[in-house]
Amino acid sequence: MRYDFDRVIDRRNTDCIKHDRNTALFGTEDVLAMWVADMDFPCPEPVLEALRRRLDHPILGYSFAPDSLYQAIIDRMQRLYGWAVKRDWISFTPGVVDGVHAAVRALARPGDGLIVQPPVYFPFFPAVTDNGCQIVNNPLRLDGGRHVMDFDDLARSFTPDGSFLGKPRRIEGLILCSPHNPVGRVWTADELRRLGEICLANDCVIVSDEIHCDLLVGSAVHTPAASLSPELAQKTITLMAPSKTFNLAGLAASFAIIPDSGLRKRFQRARAGGGGVNVLGLVAMEAALRDCDDYLAQLNAYITGNVEYFAGAVAGIPGLRLVPPGGPEGTYLAWVDMRELGLDDEALKDFMLRKARIATSYGAIFGAGGEGFQRFNLACPRSVVEEAVARLKAAVAALRSG
Ligand SMILES: Cc1ncc(COP(=O)(O)O)c(C=O)c1O
Repeated sequence: MRYDFDRVIDRRNTDCIKHDRNTALFGTEDVLAMWVADMDFPCPEPVLEALRRRLDHPILGYSFAPDSLYQAIIDRMQRLYGWAVKRDWISFTPGVVDGVHAAVRALARPGDGLIVQPPVYFPFFPAVTDNGCQIVNNPLRLDGGRHVMDFDDLARSFTPDGSFLGKPRRIEGLILCSPHNPVGRVWTADELRRLGEICLANDCVIVSDEIHCDLLVGSAVHTPAASLSPELAQKTITLMAPSKTFNLAGLAASFAIIPDSGLRKRFQRARAGGGGVNVLGLVAMEAALRDCDDYLAQLNAYITGNVEYFAGAVAGIPGLRLVPPGGPEGTYLAWVDMRELGLDDEALKDFMLRKARIATSYGAIFGAGGEGFQRFNLACPRSVVEEAVARLKAAVAALRSG
């Protein structure tokens, strides 16, 4: 079927974090909500249909993941990536963040180090520190207006005796964001291979958050890190979910793929008591992964159009720079460098909320390298992106004129 992503859907009064808490979060109702990463688009019809069918039964008791769901995941990994995943490798979690926390507990003891690559999805930081571990930053580098990984810095993070930051503890893992939120990079197979070599050489497990793997702008191609070699697969915990792609975040349904049996047991032990996916999440996940390729193709085409429009418009606003200049390669999140406006973080927040009247995600929360940037969620009807551009233009013009 054809989806109408231009349609503006009123989401107010649905207890929706993105639109129903503006006053509580931002002190005003008068903002365009372009912050949290969920979409203002309808979910795919096959998912809604599967949920309706399940709800025709009057009992929603304890449920398990059926064979057909495992098969949907296995088939999808084969179809999209040529990656032969075995059923045993799959575990279910209510969220990818839950999976990141469990992975940290599975890998490290308090005091150990975990590498993150800021600016990066900010819940990675508490996943490390709330578990008593230490953050080791391997900041991304801006290279020709595009972020790249700093492999030399990464290699230097590891020392021959395993110590780091002067502490006698080991670096046990690297939390990878692939594709990368907020900088919108879709890491190439070569970049991931290089990263993998360094991690393998240092016995460091990759926790690969691939929640944005389906959201590809233009001709970008996603490669699961673990699909690159059997050796890397044994040292990788891959976390995926249908939640971003098919707008199902409220159903709390995700999965982990862990080929190494020892690592998998540690992950499952770390999650003990944490629960799995609820009955409606299981139903929705299966339909999304199996029956919604058509939706995804239309979605990516629409988001690509939004990105192109936004990139063109931002290029014409003095003081703003999109990174990369053409917009994100993956995700629907645009990362805008506003440092040339000369505002400190508080002033920039105030400018976005009171002058531009747009609720974005503030760059500084993403860690080192995020200061002076704003993250815009472009998963909304084109008319909303147009309104955001008009507001931004007017606010920047007013700022510049005095
Ligand atoms: C990189 C990344 N990981 C995880 C999440 C959230 O995952 P979940 O809601 O499944 O915990 C997000 C949401 O924005 C994200 O961008």
